[in-house]
Amino acid sequence: MNKKHITHILILLIIIKNVFTQSIFTKTNNVENVIDYWSQEKMSNAEPLLSPIGELNKTTSNNEKGRLLSSVSDSDSINPDVESDNLLTVGKIFFTRSGKDLACTAFVIDNSDGNTGITAAHCLYSREGEYAKNVIFCPGYNNGNPSALGKIPVIGLSVPKSFMKSRVDDYAAIKFDYPGKLQQQTGSFGWGLTPPSPVNIAIFGYPYNGNIPNCSKDGQNCCVWRGYSTLEFLEFPKTTIAWKVPVHIGSGGSGGPWVMKNNLPHDLGYLIGVTDFYVGQKKGKANEYADALNFTLIRILISWPPNQFSKF
Ligand SMILES: *[C@@H]1O[C@H](CO)[C@@H](O)[C@H](O)[C@H]1NC(C)=O
Ligand SMILES: *[C@@H]1O[C@H](CO)[C@@H](O)[C@H](O)[C@H]1NC(C)=O
Ligand SMILES: *[C@@H]1O[C@H](CO)[C@@H](O)[C@H](O)[C@H]1NC(C)=O
Repeated sequence: MNKKHITHILILLIIIKNVFTQSIFTKTNNVENVIDYWSQEKMSNAEPLLSPIGELNKTTSNNEKGRLLSSVSDSDSINPDVESDNLLTVGKIFFTRSGKDLACTAFVIDNSDGNTGITAAHCLYSREGEYAKNVIFCPGYNNGNPSALGKIPVIGLSVPKSFMKSRVDDYAAIKFDYPGKLQQQTGSFGWGLTPPSPVNIAIFGYPYNGNIPNCSKDGQNCCVWRGYSTLEFLEFPKTTIAWKVPVHIGSGGSGGPWVMKNNLPHDLGYLIGVTDFYVGQKKGKANEYADALNFTLIRILISWPPNQFSKF
């Protein structure tokens, strides 16, 4: 019989001080093999998350608009001939919520860890307070198939507390589980610039409906809309300052990047918003909106808590 001598009982209390009080960080609750979970069939059958919608005619009064809209001409030259095909920076994000397999759009953002992306907070966090599970990102998803980069598990989410409370700041950070820096393979969008309104932008997404011209609208291909966006003060469906464009991006496009100075193939450009909600009629005239970004908040969202992702 072995005698066991316990010489030391070491109780380690590891207190992780949460300095990230402006956002809630959570590890993704994934099935053990989330890559296998997302079979071709499951990806094809995933439903687009319905875009939040506001009612028609309930936008802000003109005097409030006047306060915010300072029209400054914008000298960016956009070359309309360049193709957006095979842009690996943007991809489709798949996840499970309320037992349903769902899809949105997500993209890679410039961050020192090289493995950070952004999507809409409303994709990852429901009104009932449920987080998305089994989250996976397919950069450059095209023709209903992942690109050569495949399916990248998402192992952490950062959702703003302000979003949880009042649905403002509708963007969330995602942490990729990738060997190396995904950003070096996909490229990434810069961030931190606030342009004057109006600004010439490109919006990318995987919508299943909406009215982007020349878009397959089947959720299987990345569509792009180019044009001017203006900054507005809104009171409905929520009180926010948001970028607006005269197009309905469509369900599944939620979480897609709105970027300025996007001159492909060389300049990916800078993020100014994330596809959030539309106001108008589904099959008629509608405007899409994206909350103006709070870069202080983004800095917090993408500062992943240390030692949270080590494998043992
Ligand atoms: C909303 O606008 C449409 C046309 O844009 C108009 O026909 C309709 O009466 C308006 N509805 C309300 C409630 O103001
Ligand atoms: C749609 O695509 C066709 C062919 O590629 C092109 O000629 C046309 O200008 C495009 N339309 C728009 C609105 O981009
Ligand atoms: C931006 O976010 C920071 C961090 O959450 C917050 O302290 C600040 O009040 C926000 N600014 C605006 C204008 O909402």
